Amino acid sequence: MQNSPWWQHSVIYEIYPRSFQDSNGDGIGDLNGIIARLDYLVNLGVNAIWISPIYPSPMADFGYDVADYCGIDQLFGTMEDFKHLLSEVHRGGLKMILDFVPNHSSDQHPWFVESRSSLTNPKRDWYLWRDQPNNWLSHFGGSAWELDETTGQYYLHSFLKQQPDLNWRNPDVKAAMFDTLRFWLRLGVDGFRVDVMWLMIKDDQFRDNPPNPGYRLGQPSNNRLLPVYNSDRPEIHGLVAEMRAVVDEFPDRVLIGEIYLPIQQLMRYYGADLKGAHLPFNFQLLQCAWNAESLAQAITGYQGALPGGAWPNWVLGNHDQSRIASRVGPRQARIAAMLLLTLPGTLTMYYGEELGMANVPIAPERVQDPAEKNEPGLGQGRDPERTPMPWDDSRCAGFTTGLPWLPLGDDYTTLNVRALELDQSSILHLYRRLIDLRRTRPTLVSGKLQSVTVQSDVLRFQRVGDQDRLVVLLNFGHSPVEIEMEQGTVILSTNLDRERHPQGIKTLGLNAAEGVIIELDQLPA
Ligand code: NOJ
Ligand code: CA
Repeated sequence: MQNSPWWQHSVIYEIYPRSFQDSNGDGIGDLNGIIARLDYLVNLGVNAIWISPIYPSPMADFGYDVADYCGIDQLFGTMEDFKHLLSEVHRGGLKMILDFVPNHSSDQHPWFVESRSSLTNPKRDWYLWRDQPNNWLSHFGGSAWELDETTGQYYLHSFLKQQPDLNWRNPDVKAAMFDTLRFWLRLGVDGFRVDVMWLMIKDDQFRDNPPNPGYRLGQPSNNRLLPVYNSDRPEIHGLVAEMRAVVDEFPDRVLIGEIYLPIQQLMRYYGADLKGAHLPFNFQLLQCAWNAESLAQAITGYQGALPGGAWPNWVLGNHDQSRIASRVGPRQARIAAMLLLTLPGTLTMYYGEELGMANVPIAPERVQDPAEKNEPGLGQGRDPERTPMPWDDSRCAGFTTGLPWLPLGDDYTTLNVRALELDQSSILHLYRRLIDLRRTRPTLVSGKLQSVTVQSDVLRFQRVGDQDRLVVLLNFGHSPVEIEMEQGTVILSTNLDRERHPQGIKTLGLNAAEGVIIELDQLPA
């Protein structure tokens, strides 16, 4: 592992910067806030942070509408603050991954301001303009086309109308955007998470999408059509390879793609000869039904589909998805932690998961997310999973001295970092132990994943290295079970209460919603 790239043995921690730590009392998290909390992350043991966009932005989509790809929004701080953060991150032995948003800019970006100014502007072709719209739909509801009165043409926006799509078939766009990557790479940033990588190239003939026979009333309106012509187009793979080549101009950097696609299509983003994304995000754990059988299938399906030499990765949560503790409940959240941290490859977790933080209900008048505002009540809103990190039980949870931009959870006086640090049996300590175990047991990172089986509600698999054989047992059920077991020692359990007990030869009792990691006495063959 010593010689493998850093990102292969990393746990990546996603920070939604608005909600991590405010340093100036405006109720919005910022870069100096992150600096103030770096010790916490070092103690947690994670290896890299991915920070959602911090670039200048009108914040129509909270930073995913970028008005300057090479700056820092004053809400988050200054370029000096950023450089300070980067050096502190590195001083703490961590890596920093930035969010790159190439599919669209803000409508306030100077490129779009120019592009929309006239039909003949040199930047006209930097965006996607048409005389007539086709039937493509926006991910945030309604048509993906907006009429621009000045020139009488329509521009494409796969998301908000304030987020016009860039034309990646235009070589000047490519060159300019690749230069923005180089800007951050030169500053020493360790890699990028690329926003909606699979959407970047559209059909050159702008053909209409076919209807989706599976669409049901009450679903987001974007589901009405199958995204045949505006997503996952064949040309995307050439573009991803070019992006990778830019990242490869600098030593030891990583390229991660946000891609929501079925497994076979997803795998193609590793690229021919693995020269695409180092890690096309694997969202199986977010999408899979929470039971032993479905998860076993998801795990074996994913492993089996990986191209030769491709490095696996697993994601437990992000700023667009319901929090895991809300999806599966507080007890299963511990199982989720053990599952994530015993799977092979690179892992990504979302801030607050280590606290068992749940979604926070948002009253209608406090809704911020345009996804909810545009299509209310369809479950599209992402504010619930973006609420402030609870650090302690003081007013506003130590997050801010002002008014937080989104409400804190009602439970913050008990569910907060300080309280969970004091409770040795808390989920926070479980995360620390699991992350530490990954460091001391390389088998968990790069050992073989074998013998994935299900017995009643228990998922069982082995991780086999050169030195050790580990069995992971996870009870997804509500009742205790007896499991047949070879001789071994429990090295960690989700309740943190049975380590080091040599285990009975033939059977092992598992409590409801309990997980254990056992080291088998018998060494690898
Ligand atoms: C995916 C991002 O994760 C999400 O938050 C954003 O709204 C869309 N892409 C548009 O950039
Ligand atoms: Ca602030």
